[in-house]
This record gives sequence, structure tokens and C-alpha cells, in this order.
Amino acid sequence: MAPPASERRGSTRTAVVWSALEPVLGHDALDVLDIGGGTGGLAVRIGELGHRVTVVDPSPDALAALDRRARERDVAVTSRQGDLSSLLDVAGPDSADLVLCHGVLEVVDDPAAALATLARVVRPGGVLSLLVAQRYAAVVARAMAGHFQQALEMLDATAPHGRAGRRFTHDELAGLVRDAGLGVDAVQGIRVFTDLVPGSLLDLEPGATAALVELEQAVASRPEYLPLATQLHLLAHRSS
Ligand SMILES: C[S@@+](CC[C@H](N)C(=O)[O-])C[C@H]1O[C@@H](n2cnc3c(N)ncnc32)[C@H](O)[C@@H]1O
Repeated sequence: MAPPASERRGSTRTAVVWSALEPVLGHDALDVLDIGGGTGGLAVRIGELGHRVTVVDPSPDALAALDRRARERDVAVTSRQGDLSSLLDVAGPDSADLVLCHGVLEVVDDPAAALATLARVVRPGGVLSLLVAQRYAAVVARAMAGHFQQALEMLDATAPHGRAGRRFTHDELAGLVRDAGLGVDAVQGIRVFTDLVPGSLLDLEPGATAALVELEQAVASRPEYLPLATQLHLLAHRSS
């Protein structure tokens, strides 16, 4: 049976983000910190490569699921309860070669303060990986679902955001990262087409999901497609 649509969307995201992270992970064992790492899908995969991975997350349930996942895969991943506001107490400054912050900036009170904290946790010469929701795609999604009033309200960057949290444009995200003193290396669009393709269409044709992943990989780094992407993935570095 074909995997559910949510899983297919996840596989597109994972494939594109993973191919950007692979060169960063390299061959030497790194100290990797995953803030808001949740149930540890990415953390465990990175741990399997031999890196020293710590997940910090406010949710005890997510951390329990992470511990189970790591045990099942026989991987050592450290889990610590905490959030972005207390990260420097939990992880300490200059403590990680690679900091992952995926799907978290949307929900913090102050993204600029959060980025200042992340920039301090990354070691000089280290890398920050950010994944955030992108605003323009959300407007398109609302309009295509017939929610025209919601789409109209989302055009205004200062409109209050709902439960899904804040959304960013490329320029806003890159600006926040630079203001925190980091250099932007690359920005990719994640799920440019995946959320626009009806799940039933993928079910009909064998191999369609793999072909879609290939298409997503091909457009991810093309700036002209960034405004269509559901999420933005940004890699930044702290100068040595
Ligand atoms: C959308 S999930 C993303 C999980 C994972 N990083 C991923 O990309 O699949 C957001 C995660 O952020 C955590 N979170 C929520 N508020 C946070 C905060 N202020 N600081 C750090 N993590 C937070 C949640 O518990 C949850 O595990």
C-alpha cells in the first residue's frame, strides 16, 4: 500500500534537507545540537553516522519518543528538556559544530533573540541549519483551498499569526540570520510542488513519489522557485 500523503510530504522534506546537510556532516564526528528536535527523526539519523547528538526540546513526550527511537536503532542520542530561551544554560556557548533548529522559529516569542542565542551556541567555524515555514506559499495554499479572506489577511506581514505560528519570507529570514552575526551560505525551497499535488495523483502512478522527490531536489536551489516553497531551509556559518 502507498504511504499516506503526510508521509510523502515528509519524505520530500527529508530528502532535500538531508542532501544539504550531508556535506556539512562530512567524515569527522561532530557535536550536533538539535533544538526543538521533537521525536528525533533527524537526530537519530545523524547519530547513526557516528556524530555526538543532543536533542533539547520542551516536550517530555517528544523526548520519550526520541529515546525509544534511539534505543530501537541502537544509537546514542542525548536528550535534555529545555527550550530556546534556556538553551545557553542547557548547552552552553560555543558548544556545537552544527546546530539544527527546524520548525521552531515559527513558535518562539522573539525570533531575533532566538537567533542571537543560536549564534552563541554555534562554535566559531560551525554551522546553523534553519527550517521555517514560508509566507507566500501559505497564501497560495489558502487561496487554492477557497479560503480567499484568509489569503487576503495573510498578505499583510504584520497580521497576527494563528496556531501554526509565524511564517517568513526569504529576505526576512536571511536578515534575521545576518543580524545575529552569521553568514548565510545557502537557502533552499522545501516542498515547492509537493503540497500542490493531489495525493490521489501520486497514488495512481508507480514511481511518481520518487519522480516528485527528484523534481523537488532539482528546483530546491533555484531562487525563482523559493516564493512557492512551503518551507525554507537555510544554512549559515559562524566565522572562525
Ligand atoms: C514542528 S516540531 C519540529 C520537530 C523537528 N525539529 C522536525 O523538524 O521534525 C516543533 C518542535 O519544537 C518544540 N518547541 C516548541 N516550542 C519551543 C521552544 N520555545 N524552544 C525549543 N523548542 C520548542 C516542540 O516541542 C516540537 O518538538
